[in-house]
Amino acid sequence: MNSSPLAVDAPWIVLKFGGSSVSTVSRWQQIAELATLRRQEGARVLIVVSALAGITDALHALYKAKATERPSQARLIVERHQHLAAELGLDRPEALHTQLDALVALCSAASPSTPELTWRAELLAQGELLSSTLGAAFLHAKGLPVQWLDARLALLTTELPHHNERTRILSASVRAKPDPAWSEALAASGELFITQGFIARDAAGQTVLLGRGGSDTSAAYFGAQLAAERVEIWTDVAGIFSANPHQVPDARLLTQLDYEEAQEIVATGAKVLHPHCLSPLRRSRVPLRIHDTANPQLPGTLIGPTKTSTAPSVKGISARQGITLVSMESVGMWQEVGFLADVFAYFKRHGLSVDLVSSAETNVTVSLDPTENLLDSDAVARLADDLSTICRVKVIAPCAAITLVGRGMRGMLHRLAPLLAEFGEHHVHLITQSSNNLNLTFVVDEGLADELVPRLHSLLLRTGVLHANDPLCFGASWRSLYGQDQAAPSVPWWHAQRQRLLDLAEQGPCYVYHLPTVRARARALRRIATVNHWYYAIKANPQQRLLQVLAEEGFGLECVSPGELQRARGAAANAPRLFSANFASQDDFRLAIQEPDTLITLDGLHPLQCWGEYFRDRTIGLRIDLGRGLGHHEKVRTGGVFSKFGLALDDLDEFLQWARKINARISLLHAPLGSGVLDPHHWVRVYAELAGLAERIGTVSALDIGGGLGIPQYPDEAPLDLATLAEGLAEVQRVYPQYELWMEPGRFLVAEAGVLLARVTQIKSKKNLQYLGVETGMNSLIRPALYGAQHPIINLSRLHTEADTLYQVVGPICESGDILGKDCRLPRCQEGDVLLIANAGAYGAVMASQYNLRPPATETVIE
Ligand code: LLP
Repeated sequence: MNSSPLAVDAPWIVLKFGGSSVSTVSRWQQIAELATLRRQEGARVLIVVSALAGITDALHALYKAKATERPSQARLIVERHQHLAAELGLDRPEALHTQLDALVALCSAASPSTPELTWRAELLAQGELLSSTLGAAFLHAKGLPVQWLDARLALLTTELPHHNERTRILSASVRAKPDPAWSEALAASGELFITQGFIARDAAGQTVLLGRGGSDTSAAYFGAQLAAERVEIWTDVAGIFSANPHQVPDARLLTQLDYEEAQEIVATGAKVLHPHCLSPLRRSRVPLRIHDTANPQLPGTLIGPTKTSTAPSVKGISARQGITLVSMESVGMWQEVGFLADVFAYFKRHGLSVDLVSSAETNVTVSLDPTENLLDSDAVARLADDLSTICRVKVIAPCAAITLVGRGMRGMLHRLAPLLAEFGEHHVHLITQSSNNLNLTFVVDEGLADELVPRLHSLLLRTGVLHANDPLCFGASWRSLYGQDQAAPSVPWWHAQRQRLLDLAEQGPCYVYHLPTVRARARALRRIATVNHWYYAIKANPQQRLLQVLAEEGFGLECVSPGELQRARGAAANAPRLFSANFASQDDFRLAIQEPDTLITLDGLHPLQCWGEYFRDRTIGLRIDLGRGLGHHEKVRTGGVFSKFGLALDDLDEFLQWARKINARISLLHAPLGSGVLDPHHWVRVYAELAGLAERIGTVSALDIGGGLGIPQYPDEAPLDLATLAEGLAEVQRVYPQYELWMEPGRFLVAEAGVLLARVTQIKSKKNLQYLGVETGMNSLIRPALYGAQHPIINLSRLHTEADTLYQVVGPICESGDILGKDCRLPRCQEGDVLLIANAGAYGAVMASQYNLRPPATETVIE
C-alpha cells in the first residue's frame, strides 16, 4: 500500500462485496487489490461485506431448526469458515475463533429470557460478523493496515411509523446523512476499514437487521454518513440491465442512470441492488457504481444525480413475481369520509406496506410487494380477516407485476401501442401509472410474466421506444457480454470491399450488389433437398446480372407483371418462369399466355369467368388464401380477408367448376403468406395444408409454398434456421411424396448482397437529437419510411472508429418520413463521409422513385 500519508480531507470510497464475492481465495485477493488501488488513488476505503454465499440461508435454517438439531448445523457453518480460513493461509486466526465460539454459544442460548425476534437478529447477524472478521485477518496478513469496524457502532436505526416490532428488528431503517464528526474521527484512526453489511443497532443497543439484501443498504448508509466520493457495489453481474438478462439475453447493460430511474428499476424487480439503498445516496448525492467482480473490466452501471436524457424513453422492463392483490369491495364506500383511512389502518397494523393502488366507486385494489413486506400467508390471512369487518375482501395471488420504467412515460403512450397489443389475449388484473411519470405497471397472473417480458423487451427494441443505441445510457447486451454459445458473427462482405465501395461512392449515391453473396445464399437454399424447384421472385431485385447469376444457380424466375416477364426473358431466356400476377388486366394475361415456358397462376374467379378462353386446355396454377398472413409488417402480409391476394377457400369449388368447363388443369397450388418470415415452421405448416387441399382437387402435381424467407432485421433476431426448415419439409414430404415442392424466395437471396452508399451532406442538432443528412433518402430506399424497416447504417469512411454518437440519419426529401435510420450509433461524422446502408439488396432500388425530382441511387454489380 502507498505509504505516503493521506490528506486529512482525503475522500472516502465504500466498496461493498456480496456473498459470492467473499467466498473464495481469489475473490479475497481481488478485494485486497481493489483496496490497494483505491488507496493509491488517494482515497480512504471502507469495505462492507455480506456473509459468505449460502451462510445467511444456513443461519435461517438454524433458527428454524429444533433446538436439538442446532449444534450440528452450527458445526457445519463453523467448518465452512475454518475451511476458507485455511485456504486463505490463515493459521487459526484468534478473532475468527472468538466469533465462531459466539455463534455456538448463541445456538445453545435460546432461552426464554431472550425475546425471540432479538435472538433471531443476533443469530442472523453472525454471517457478516464472521465474514468481516475473516476478511480483516486476511487483509492484515497481506500487509494492509486494515481495521475491523463493528457496523453496529456506526449505524443507529430510526423507528418508522409503519414499523411494528417484527419489521423494527428484522427490516430496520437508518436515517443516514453526512456525519462529518464521525467521518473525521474514523479518518483520524486509519485509512482502511472492513465492516459488516446487513446489521445495525437500535436505540436500546440491540442488534437489528436491515432486511434481506441489506448489505447494499449498509454500504449506502455508510456512503451517505461518510459523504463518500462514491460507493462501489461489487457483485456477480456487470450492472443493471434493461430486463432480467437470465430471461432476456438481449437485455442491454444500462451504463448510466439517474437516481430516480434506478430507483424505479430496482424497486420494480431488478435484483442487482436492494431498493432501499438508493434513497440515502440520493439525499447526500453520493454516486454508486455497480461492477462485476469476475469481470472488472466491464463498464458497469453508474447511478448518480445526472439525468442522462430529457427525451422520453423506456430504460427497462422489470417483473416482480409473488405479488398479492387485495381487492376491497364496499357499496357504501363512495364519498364516504374515512373509508380509505380505515382500510389502510389495517395494513399498517399488520406491518404491510401497500405498493400499487387502483380505485373505483365501489372497489379499491392494492398490491403487496414481497420485497417491501415480510409477507407470509398468515399475515395476509390476518389482514383479510380484519378487513372483512368493513368490506368484502378478495385476495388474488400469485400475480406478477410487469413494469415499464423510463422518464416521461405519459408522453410515450402513442409509441407503446405494439406493446399494449401483447396484453390483448391475457387477463390484466390492474394497471397503474406512477405519479412521478416514471413507470407503467401491469399486474397479470404470475405464470404469464416469463412469457410476456421477453416479447415486450424485444418490441421495445424494435419500436425504438428503448433507445438501445444511445451510448450515454446503454451498453452491450448480456448475450454479447456473457453469452458463450454464440457462433462468431460473420464479417459482412463489404468489409473486404471497403476501398472499392468508397471509390464508387465518389460518383454519387449508389447501390452496390455483391454477386458472390448472392451465389452463397442460392447454394445454401439449394441444399434443402426436399424442394424440387426454386424460383427467384424477381420483384425483390430485377437487376439483369443478378437474374443471370441466379438462373446459373438453377433458379427459375417468378414474375408478376409483363415488364418482369420481359426482363426475365431478356436476362435468362432458358430459365422457367412463373407468372403469378395479382389483379392483372386482361391485356396482361394476353401477353403472358404467349410466353413460352411460363406457368400462369390465377388468384380469383374473374379471369376464368370472364376471359376463360385464354386458359382453355391449359395447365394453370391456383393461388389460394389460407385465411392468414405473416410477415415483418402488416403491409407485406398476404392472406386473410383484409388482403387482396388469393382465392377465398369458399370459392374453391366454383373455381374448379369453371376450370372444368374450359378444360383447364390445375397442376400447381400456391400459397405465399407474406414476406420477411423467420419462423422455419411456417412453410412446413403451409406445405401440409396445401397437400390436404391438393388431394381434394385431384390434378395437382406441385405445391408452391411461397417465398418470404426473412433476414434478421433487429439486433435480437436470429437468422432463419434453414436446417430446421429442411427437416420440417422432409417430414411432410414423407407423408405426401406424390407432390413436387416449389419455393420462390426473393429477399433471402439478394438483401444482404446489396448496400446503399451515400455521402454525408449536413449535420444539425435539435435539443439532444443530432440529424445527419445524406445525399439520398426515401427516393432511393423507401423501406424505413414505408414499413419502419431497420437497415444497419455504418460510416464506411470511419469503419474502425468507435461508434459513440447517436444520429438520426435523414435524406434530402421534403417529407418528415424521410428518415433512413433512427437512433443510429455511429462514430462522429463529417460532411463527405460515406455511409453504408446495409441489407439494401432487396426491395431497394426497385422501389425507388423520382420524388422531388431527385434521381435515386444508381446501381452497380461487383464480383
Ligand atoms: N412470391 C410472391 C407471390 C410474392 O408476392 C412475393 C413477395 C415473394 C414470392 C417473395 O417474397 P420474399 O421472399 O422476397 O419475402 N416490399 C416489401 C416486400 C414485399 C413482398 C411482396 N411479395 C419489403 O420491402 O419488405
